Amino acid sequence: MRVGILGSGLMGGKLGTLLARAGHEVVFSYARSKGKLQQLAREAHASARAGTPREAVRDADAVVLAVHWSRLDEVLQQAGDLSGKLIVTCCLPMNDDNTGLVVAHTTSGAEVLAHRVPQARIVCAFNTVPSEVLFSIFEDRLETTRPSLVYCGDDASGKKVTAELVRDLGFDPVDAGPLRIARYTEPFALLMGQLAYEVEESPAVAYRFERFSEIG
Ligand SMILES: NC(=O)c1ccc[n+]([C@@H]2O[C@H](COP(=O)([O-])OP(=O)(O)OC[C@H]3O[C@@H](n4cnc5c(N)ncnc54)[C@H](OP(=O)(O)O)[C@@H]3O)[C@@H](O)[C@H]2O)c1
Repeated sequence: MRVGILGSGLMGGKLGTLLARAGHEVVFSYARSKGKLQQLAREAHASARAGTPREAVRDADAVVLAVHWSRLDEVLQQAGDLSGKLIVTCCLPMNDDNTGLVVAHTTSGAEVLAHRVPQARIVCAFNTVPSEVLFSIFEDRLETTRPSLVYCGDDASGKKVTAELVRDLGFDPVDAGPLRIARYTEPFALLMGQLAYEVEESPAVAYRFERFSEIG
């Protein structure tokens, strides 16, 4: 698939690199320097290239949105027409000093995004995994006990594409339901972040869900 990356930092840079290595055609965009985007494209060792947000979106089968919440309006404006596009968002609606969610409980960042670009198809994914684990999970791509990765959205075809990308990265995709479920996955992502970065000797935070009925 053609995948456009909007925001090529910790998440976008890694997701784009691994999706390129999995065989997708990736365009990295939106960083503070063009040199960084070109370096990412070179290091992906595949058919990846650097471009503008508009170029990343043009002809993309999926657009991965990975910017800080404060950059949302700017990147959307630079991306241009998103009509009919699948936007897979891993953005968390964090405040400026990353201490809390600015949107929670009765709505979610993913739903706010869906209101901002009503002509796009939004799926919320990748936000519950710390970027640090992405490379090792991709390199292992286990046959049986893959870590789970939850995603949610209202667009069936967009979710199918997202599940394929999630699988290509080495995870077991778990459909958590409609986009409003992001009200629960976004705070869950903070728990994952807390475990990953703030709890000493925390457990590995790639997780696997088992069906409740299979337990005991
Ligand atoms: N990191 C994680 O583990 C993680 C996990 C779950 C969810 N998320 C969510 O994913 C999203 C991205 O997080 P991240 O950690 O990848 O953030 P990040 O490393 O800061 O990446 C953001 C990207 O936006 C670019 N950018 C920022 N300001 C810009 C400007 N003025 N002009 C042009 N480009 C600019 C940055 O450029 P530079 O590359 O030049 O800095 C970078 O490429 C956030 O919403 C976050 O909450 C992250």
